[in-house]
Amino acid sequence: MHLIAWLAAFWSSVTGVTFSHDVAPILYRNCASCHRTGGVAPFSLIAYEDAAKRAALIATVTAKHYMPPWLPSEPRFQHERKLTIEEIATLAKWAEEGAPQGDAALTPPAPRFPEGWQLGKPDVVAEMRAPFAVPADGPDIYQCFDIPAPEARSHYVRAIDISPGNPKVVHHAILFQDVTGTARKRDAGSGYPCFGTPGFLPARGLGGWTPGSLPFEPPADIPEQLDGGADLVLQVHYHPSGRPETSRTRVALYFTARKPTRHAADIPLGSNRIDIPPGERTYKVTDHFTIPVAVDVIAINPHAHYVCKEMYGYAVLPDGSRRTLIRISDWNFDWQQQYVYATPIRLPADTRVEMEFTYDNSEDNPRNPNHPPARVVWGPGSKDEMAGLHIEIAPAREADAQELADALWGKMIRTLRVR
Ligand code: HEC
Repeated sequence: MHLIAWLAAFWSSVTGVTFSHDVAPILYRNCASCHRTGGVAPFSLIAYEDAAKRAALIATVTAKHYMPPWLPSEPRFQHERKLTIEEIATLAKWAEEGAPQGDAALTPPAPRFPEGWQLGKPDVVAEMRAPFAVPADGPDIYQCFDIPAPEARSHYVRAIDISPGNPKVVHHAILFQDVTGTARKRDAGSGYPCFGTPGFLPARGLGGWTPGSLPFEPPADIPEQLDGGADLVLQVHYHPSGRPETSRTRVALYFTARKPTRHAADIPLGSNRIDIPPGERTYKVTDHFTIPVAVDVIAINPHAHYVCKEMYGYAVLPDGSRRTLIRISDWNFDWQQQYVYATPIRLPADTRVEMEFTYDNSEDNPRNPNHPPARVVWGPGSKDEMAGLHIEIAPAREADAQELADALWGKMIRTLRVR
């Protein structure tokens, strides 16, 4: 343990754990981005009284790693929402000791959340054509919104910031670009339902937003590209708040004149051969791809619906060793997002990347949409299943980009033949 952490632990073991000295800093750093007035969580955890009356529940949900919501157990990603063992122990001890306040004057100032764009003045701001009305209650809503092409010519994009609109109802938002014109046709003005995918191909992701997340900045030598004339499409997940609300999400784009020195590519692992009998607890879907050249793995985006339970993505290196690319032991569709590695993972040529998703179609899966369990097959609906693991990579040497593209093309053709 770090000396300072050790001293702090020693100090609180002598003085006891208090809200103002020990608990408030943990809650403000890890919980307040959602648990604040107007945030997406159902109550605030900023004032002492609000936290104290829930001390036991806070201890329980943090011990179970249910809060803060963060699905991957490994490896390390940017903007991770995770408590340390010491922090979990502090919250438990505080609850045990009756949630004492301590000296109120020592409470750190309440955290502030930036209202404006966090990276300064954007080159372009685009927004949903109209505010969307979210009813007071009912099921969560997944809606896609077309934003007519903000730029006539192509640009390299160094950063993207998304401002959710009304944080009481926006759970997450994902930004795509559409060069096919499909979204424009489907959106008559107030969006169209899109539960899983946005309904067009290729659906090129441009980043996303979840509560407390920071603007998305790709590595400086691999900027994103916004195609001239491409529409932006926002997929927004709304969670009704108990009152009718409206929300209008906005997007800020920051361009760069710097040309990419490497080109990112996507390894689309996955399968549409899914047919899960009712009651089956360990149905597996697997896929793999051998990468012919050395690459850096930048980000990963797992996708499945409610019956999926475990996700494991890994790399088998030429020497036989394994590296975990993502491990999720209790998948929750409601908290899906793209994960960007804390530092890109370098994989040597001829590494095989693999995915293994496990589906629990039994009554024991609390998220099973069917009671009693029913046969589940591949499809885009909320009672269907999907299996996708998108691995975003860049060749270590740009000279290898064509060989990589050819190999990915070969994989796509093989997939089509199987279908
Ligand atoms: C990314 C947003 C987010 C963060 C960060 C977050 N929460 Fe939550 N929390 C929610 C939402 C949304 C709910 C209500 C829905 C649910 O239970 O999933 C919730 C529910 C809860 C509940 C009620 C659970 C129940 O069973 O009724 C507690 C207690 C809680 N959070 C504590 C915390 C604590 C403590 C932290 C920080 C260590 C934290 N949360 C961080 C979004 C968040």
